Amino acid sequence: MTTTAPHPQAGAAPAAKRTKRELAEQAMRQSWFPVARIVDLDKPQRATLLGVDLVVYRSGDGTVAVQDRRCPHRGADLSAGAVHEKSIGCPYHGWQFGAADGACVRVPSLEDQSKIPPQAAIKTYPVQLKYGHVWTVLEDPIRDVYEVPYWEGVEWEWLAGDILDSAVGVAITVENFRDVAHFPFVHQVSMGPSPEVVEPLTPVREGLNVWMDRPLNASTGEWAEDGNAMMHYFCSAPGLASITYDYERLGKRVVAGFPSPVSYEEVKIFWGVANQVGYKGASLEECLRVEDMVYREDLSIVDGVFPREIPWDAEVQEFSVPADLFTLNYRRCFNELMTKVQG
Ligand code: FES
Ligand SMILES: [Fe+2]
Repeated sequence: MTTTAPHPQAGAAPAAKRTKRELAEQAMRQSWFPVARIVDLDKPQRATLLGVDLVVYRSGDGTVAVQDRRCPHRGADLSAGAVHEKSIGCPYHGWQFGAADGACVRVPSLEDQSKIPPQAAIKTYPVQLKYGHVWTVLEDPIRDVYEVPYWEGVEWEWLAGDILDSAVGVAITVENFRDVAHFPFVHQVSMGPSPEVVEPLTPVREGLNVWMDRPLNASTGEWAEDGNAMMHYFCSAPGLASITYDYERLGKRVVAGFPSPVSYEEVKIFWGVANQVGYKGASLEECLRVEDMVYREDLSIVDGVFPREIPWDAEVQEFSVPADLFTLNYRRCFNELMTKVQG
């Protein structure tokens, strides 16, 4: 009787090559996203980032915290709890967790507080406050919160828009925001008639950023009175889409969207407008009203796009034309982001 020697390669199977979709999701777990508006921090906010349920709040001492929302005692929702000087208290049995590090600092039912289970803690995530929003990142960041060269050296006043839900992923949302061929079909009301033919585009890409200038000639839409402007388009992977308008007569204003992935195929669109201090055009509130109209026109179409995120693994076929050059370059930015988690 003979025995079969184990095959020399038996044992651990070689690691499966990750799909681009998996790389895209991992890259987003390591990228900063907004999870709340700063103006809403008078009470704890609920957020979900790539399936992770979070609570966002400002404690009494001013610390802004992003932490796991589930209480590790019996699972209650901490966003329904009370904020204390340095902690958040669970609404169910009152356990308190420190805003700085998530450690349990008080269990009301215990006579002796030194008996608090030492492991009882909620995970605490990094926080940055920027552009009117609270930003966080789930795992080791591979990039910083977006910086836009057109915004440097200018004093801005930001106003955050109403958070919008959309049933597509981050990349589709960014592409929609910076797509140039859909205006005459989707934005007849907000923008008035726009030409269908798109002029040759000249996007520039460097690393995770792509940008492009386009002149805006005063038209008949909501902005007809503002006169001519240069539009600076700037996108950054994974989730910044922005336009900085530089008006001949009025000064500068911004509209920027920061879609944040609730899941891989679903976003909350955090967004806002900013006016240069001293801007002579419409008020921030009026800019917000018009941009909100534009967003909602988009949502009515984009919510129906399928598959619900860019087919990174070519799971469906797409065809492109020169009018897609800017968004194709944004895809290259996203691809570059994916290479940062490939190792
Ligand atoms: S479930 Fe939170 S304190 Fe009991
Ligand atoms: Fe649009």
